[in-house]
Amino acid sequence: MKLYVLNGPNLNFLGIREPAHYGSTTYAQLLDMIRAHCEEKKIEVVCHQSNHEGALVDWIQEAYWEGADGIVINPGAYTHTSVALLDAVKSTQIPTVEVHISKVEEREAFRQISYIREACIATITGHGVKGYLEAIDLLAEWLQKGADA
Ligand code: DQA
Repeated sequence: MKLYVLNGPNLNFLGIREPAHYGSTTYAQLLDMIRAHCEEKKIEVVCHQSNHEGALVDWIQEAYWEGADGIVINPGAYTHTSVALLDAVKSTQIPTVEVHISKVEEREAFRQISYIREACIATITGHGVKGYLEAIDLLAEWLQKGADA
């Protein structure tokens, strides 16, 4: 099983940015957690972060060409603005889980819109960085069920 874990703008600032919302784990520590978790579960994982919308679209398309089985994505602020990311996930039809570290549903009105959500099999919000590991497990279980059906 091969998964892509994609992070959008400002998530490279984890550990620095607004700890009350995003905690104290750094992006480097998050990558270590994800890689250790995937190694344990025998999942191949490719991780990328960008502050640029087009780069995220490119990696979703790359996931398609690389034959990835699933995507975990925290699009950051592009969650609330990007039709391009929605279209990219719809184009590739790769099972995708949306993750937010903070509890977006309890924050500002502009964070209540998620364009990408309708193309995702699930959304995890407010579980801190552990949400990424939960998303990986959820995808793995979902893909396994499909394979068994
Ligand atoms: C976020 C929530 C978004 O509203 C925000 O713009 C982010 C991070 C989260 O992980 O909680 O950059 O996606």
